[in-house]
Amino acid sequence: MADEIMTKLNACVRAVKEQVDFTPQVALILGSGLGDYADQIEVAAELPYDRIPGFPVSTVPGHSGKFIFGTLGGVKLVCMKGRVHYYEGYSMSDVVLPVRLMKMLGAQTLFLTNAAGGLNPDFKPGSLMMLRDHISFFVPNPLLGKNPEELGTRFPDMSEVYSKRLCEIIQREAKAENVPLFEGVYAQLTGPSYESPAEIRALKGLGVDAVGMSTVVEAIAARHAGMEICGISCISNLAAGLSAGELNHKEVQEAADEAAPRFTRLLNASIKAFGQEIL
Ligand code: HPA
Repeated sequence: MADEIMTKLNACVRAVKEQVDFTPQVALILGSGLGDYADQIEVAAELPYDRIPGFPVSTVPGHSGKFIFGTLGGVKLVCMKGRVHYYEGYSMSDVVLPVRLMKMLGAQTLFLTNAAGGLNPDFKPGSLMMLRDHISFFVPNPLLGKNPEELGTRFPDMSEVYSKRLCEIIQREAKAENVPLFEGVYAQLTGPSYESPAEIRALKGLGVDAVGMSTVVEAIAARHAGMEICGISCISNLAAGLSAGELNHKEVQEAADEAAPRFTRLLNASIKAFGQEIL
């Protein structure tokens, strides 16, 4: 299993390097609503996922997939436009393959973004929440199986998945940019169905502020591989039972689109600050 993971990963890394000559510092995964973020960067190269043999290709409308390589404020970025979700039927090792690949291309820092349902009563559709911690109980751990020792240790520590120093920079930049930024705990569920109101009440009792169908397993694999991580959720809707009416994917995309300009400003400022202060 570990050997299979490494064989596939090494083949993907080789395929990317044959097509793109670029060493990224920061990996950025673009969630719903941030699909146009790549307009912000000086693009050096693009690589559609289907040009990487073995790479998992997303099937969700609005999640068309490619890597975009380029610079922003002097920082060398690899952006994922479109991610792979567990609910699409991929194995967890495929779901986290892109993160491992970006690490192997050189990225030491991972910036995760997503759209999420809000549980915290302070949140409204369009609110932004920086991840301070996560709950992974409801999805299989992406590190199950024989450990690929080349990537990381068998029992990786998860006491600071979301880097305090990155969080401090992001929060400071949010204030400077006048972008309201909440903080909280994100829980990943498999989806694709949204939660029931009883499930949301149960999650509230566990201390969850936002819920979604991605991100946590990517963060676990990245931490395993020694990356420094930060993440921001766009609260695209109040979670089930917390507002009148049904949840639908269109509403989620519309709220994410509305928040996109603020989200974009915060990302730009944060990544530039990482470049000046950390990288
Ligand atoms: N639940 C799960 N995932 C989501 C939601 C939600 O309410 N909104 C956006 N992604």
